[in-house]
Amino acid sequence: MSKKKLLVLTGGGDCPGLNAVLRGIVKRSQQNPEWEVYGSIEAYNGVLSDPQEIVRLDNKAIAGIHVKGGTIIKTTNKGGPFTWPVKHEDGTWSSIDRSDDLLNRLDDLGITAVISIGGDGSQRISQKLYERGLDIVGVPKTIDNDLSGTDFTFGFQTAVQIASDSLDKLVTTAESHHRVMIMEVMGRAAGWIALHTAISGGAEVCLIPEIPYDIEKIKQRIDQRYHNGKGFAHIVMAEGAKPIGGDVVATKSNEVGYKNVRLGGCAYRLSQELKDAGCEADIRETVLGHIQRGGGPIAFDRVLALQFGVKAFEMVLERKFGRMVAYKHNDIVDVPLLEAISTYNYVNTDSYLVKTARGLGISFGD
Ligand code: F6P
Repeated sequence: MSKKKLLVLTGGGDCPGLNAVLRGIVKRSQQNPEWEVYGSIEAYNGVLSDPQEIVRLDNKAIAGIHVKGGTIIKTTNKGGPFTWPVKHEDGTWSSIDRSDDLLNRLDDLGITAVISIGGDGSQRISQKLYERGLDIVGVPKTIDNDLSGTDFTFGFQTAVQIASDSLDKLVTTAESHHRVMIMEVMGRAAGWIALHTAISGGAEVCLIPEIPYDIEKIKQRIDQRYHNGKGFAHIVMAEGAKPIGGDVVATKSNEVGYKNVRLGGCAYRLSQELKDAGCEADIRETVLGHIQRGGGPIAFDRVLALQFGVKAFEMVLERKFGRMVAYKHNDIVDVPLLEAISTYNYVNTDSYLVKTARGLGISFGD
């Protein structure tokens, strides 16, 4: 019997739970022995590079990996088949479209279907390849939770747990020194990690991209806290937070093929703004950074990721291509890839989560 070949890849920034998805796919595929699962190393690079880097994902390869962070088949958030970086003789770089080459190579490899595990950028690529005739299923991934079409992405709750545990640690040192602690978390243009962490950790101030802040309002909330006899305070801010009329703190990366601006450092700007506004307390800044993406997934994300893996394989069996696995209303469903990528999943500022934060006395600086 000739085997059907499923190619799986992980793209974009890594995220706790990627390995659990791989395990879910491979385990479920074993109930349909006509299928063999392969992994392309570093997203599509494994197919497009010479020599190719394609690995067999069998029972041995996925043994025990659901608890491990990272991705056993590696990932990249640079380039891609439609924007493949090419170096010229003068040392400059530009990008070319290698999607035809990719589709031909997948044909040559005898690939029947592809599962792409990735965030916004990866699923945009999935949609374009689907429109070019590729049988592809998407699995949503990102610690930022900024992908539409799904209530949660795996990795998000793990990032919140790491941030929340970190905030708990900052509380004890802030209390000892009567300090204002600013903790900056990831999230790109969405404030999900910051909002969940601020509520979970009991912060006084939460700054998210969706609600630009007024420094005077933040100072008032800090002063109120100190006047009430609590000689310390906590601010959780998203890396994409910005003052009213201001912009994000970002640097342009010169890494080849890297399209995003690198967010980070807004905690230091806020610290200075607070001092300029007359805040007398000592202020310290913590930028959590990639710690939030490291290590294994918490149990919630393991379960979510394993469900996503099993579902993705079943979608391949059902030929539900051009669609993405999703978690909606406590169920695992599928949605068109277009639903996931057509809008960005911002925090709804009228949501009960934001109301809860306000109800707890958390200031958004507005
Ligand atoms: O999208 C996930 C994320 O961790 C963002 O929260 C962050 O802004 C970005 O990736 C960092 O990317 P990199 O790993 O390229 O520094």
